[in-house]
Amino acid sequence: MSAGFASRLRPVLRDAVEHFGTPFHLYDETGISETCAHFNDVFSGMPFREYFAVKALPNPAVMSLLHGHGFGFDCSSLPELALAGQAGARGHDVFFTSNNTSREELAAARARSALINVDDVAVLAKLADLTDGPGGEDTLCLRINPGALEGDDPFLGSPEHAKFGIPTHQLAHAVTMARDLGVRHFGLHTMVASNALAVSSVVRTLDILLRHAELVRDETGVEIELLNLGGGIGIPYRPDERPFDLPALGRALRRRLADWTRAGARTWPVICFESGRYITGPHGVLVTSVVNRMSKWREYVGVDAGMSALMRPGLYPTAYHHITAPWGDGRPSRTVDVVGSLCENSDKFGIDRHLPEVDEGDVLLVHDTGAHGHAMGYTYNGRMRPKELLLRADGSVELIRRAEEQELDHFATLRFVPDRIPAPVPAAHAVHLREATAP
Ligand SMILES: Cc1ncc(COP(=O)(O)O)c(C=O)c1O
Repeated sequence: MSAGFASRLRPVLRDAVEHFGTPFHLYDETGISETCAHFNDVFSGMPFREYFAVKALPNPAVMSLLHGHGFGFDCSSLPELALAGQAGARGHDVFFTSNNTSREELAAARARSALINVDDVAVLAKLADLTDGPGGEDTLCLRINPGALEGDDPFLGSPEHAKFGIPTHQLAHAVTMARDLGVRHFGLHTMVASNALAVSSVVRTLDILLRHAELVRDETGVEIELLNLGGGIGIPYRPDERPFDLPALGRALRRRLADWTRAGARTWPVICFESGRYITGPHGVLVTSVVNRMSKWREYVGVDAGMSALMRPGLYPTAYHHITAPWGDGRPSRTVDVVGSLCENSDKFGIDRHLPEVDEGDVLLVHDTGAHGHAMGYTYNGRMRPKELLLRADGSVELIRRAEEQELDHFATLRFVPDRIPAPVPAAHAVHLREATAP
């Protein structure tokens, strides 16, 4: 949590806890706006657009804020498309980066004239079949899977094991198929970095795209006009990590692109990102109250939030969220595990954390929950997702999503119009009927 966010949160925290009750995620409008402005500033002067990854924080109040900074939206499902529309996104304000995409999803993306990011050649065949809505795509982006990467960069994944993207050896075929469908303008997308803190990891993404753009030109004659570097720019979840150097990335991309365009006599491609975490991650905090202080084989602090509010620590073994006790100054320190109430031993926000002594009713802050936090929560055990609040720039705190409720939400799918298909006629009975009607 930045010093600025901490200083804006301090004066409103007690009132917010008393008024709204814990647990809740609270997002900082000022911090988000500053990051948006910084992002736009770093890439200004070149053709550029950020398409916020809606999956990171699909809340209309925050999305409207981002759209106000000129951001588009990267969507991967029908509800995300709908949210982007509600936030004011139109046409190419929306990238549709889905995978294992259905006909229904493609039709919805086309109906909104979104920029479709094709994940597989099977999707191109489906696009050809679409008859509803406006005509075919004039512009299409192809998501590529470069296969095994060299080196041991810890921020890069293993694309050869990932289900995403068109493998290199199918790329020229995919371009030809798309051209036959009437596509005139092409983009390339790949995302190999995750929570990258090193500029070189993201530059690597650009290099992969440039190499594949060469390949496409050599094999099909098509010029790639747009490069989408996906998400994956990281944030320092641990206090000893250094923030990502975005201005250094801006400089590195400019240098690479200048060399590339000059060497091949090309026009400068539009550069896009689908950042989620970098934009909102540090500007969210999960506020939770201590329910129990427990001494077992280990020392536990049990809180009123769990994996329904934040999955990352339970889901990813290396995920870390810093935890602080805002009202614990001057108390002796204890080493504890901070846990939720799920019947899952992975339901832990932190292990071996040094925190001031806390007891029932004390409040803890779980930092950096502004991306892939609330959105990833799940309702196992009937533990429901908490509310979301927005700390406005004027210091007011606004409810931007209510907490889920048992009757309204959790049991809602148990109320339905009765429906049943009859049991099949037993085979023996069918034979008996045939015999009875035989002449
Ligand atoms: C296709 C795609 N784009 C963008 C993102 C956003 O990544 P991040 O929030 O790490 O920037 C993701 C994350 O899962 C993704 O799958």
